[in-house]
Amino acid sequence: MLKLLNKAKHYINRKYFKNLKYEFEEFIPNSKGNSKDINELIKVNVKNLTTNLLDIKNFFKKAKVQRITSLKVNKELQERLGILFNNYGSDKTVHGYDVLYAKILKEISPNPTILEIGIGSNNITIPSNMGKKGFPGASLKAFADIYPNAEIFGADIDEQILNNFKNVKMFYLDQNDLKTYNNDMINEKYFDLIIDDGLHMQSANLNTLIFALERLKPGGVLVIEDITISALNTWHITDGLLKDPYKLSLYKCFDNYAVTVELKK
Ligand SMILES: C[S@@+](CC[C@H](N)C(=O)[O-])C[C@H]1O[C@@H](n2cnc3c(N)ncnc32)[C@H](O)[C@@H]1O
Repeated sequence: MLKLLNKAKHYINRKYFKNLKYEFEEFIPNSKGNSKDINELIKVNVKNLTTNLLDIKNFFKKAKVQRITSLKVNKELQERLGILFNNYGSDKTVHGYDVLYAKILKEISPNPTILEIGIGSNNITIPSNMGKKGFPGASLKAFADIYPNAEIFGADIDEQILNNFKNVKMFYLDQNDLKTYNNDMINEKYFDLIIDDGLHMQSANLNTLIFALERLKPGGVLVIEDITISALNTWHITDGLLKDPYKLSLYKCFDNYAVTVELKK
């Protein structure tokens, strides 16, 4: 009977009073108080944690943000990338990533192994989709044109768009589940370029970073695209966590930010 009552109490507190302690265990203060106060304290804790960590990090080292427009890149490659991204229906040029990739592609291996997370779903029920009229695989097509003999992989949560073409192979991956990064298709592969153009959410991006720390080749680069200004603090903090031989760079692009993490040679 008592068990049943406790179950009912739990259900009511969770469903009707929306007590956060059931979902944010890590953030419950270790202090006594009534449910309403604890709920408010959990919100304060979640809200302040990132900024507090950032203040501690900035005490030691403030990261610089470079403007994408200040990069000196090969104009011919930038133009080629810009045209390919636009023609295939990728929005990478709109953000200014043609500039960023023109810089990176000149620095990595001339025959790179590439993995892009986020193929481009046109299923409007999937977060971060490209709209009904989107073109799945647009950016991968551009990379395949530039590197017809390279090994290129695309990964996405939408299983309907996993269609291999030319030298591009695709597999299922859910960025919220680190286990799914270890697909047989890329078993024992190391990458010159890993791109995160998927869910665009910090914890999911950090899963990609955890994967990339182990799977970048020396000289290889991870690019995390589409970072909003409100998510930028996570990357300032991550910059403080990374140690040599990894180097994090922050870029201000046209309408958002991008982060790169390089494994130095
Ligand atoms: C903006 S689109 C990628 C566009 C493509 N890279 C291009 O430039 O042509 C983002 C993709 O992320 C995928 N996505 C959303 N949530 C995801 C998740 N949890 N794991 C992996 N991919 C996800 C979507 O299905 C969508 O295909």
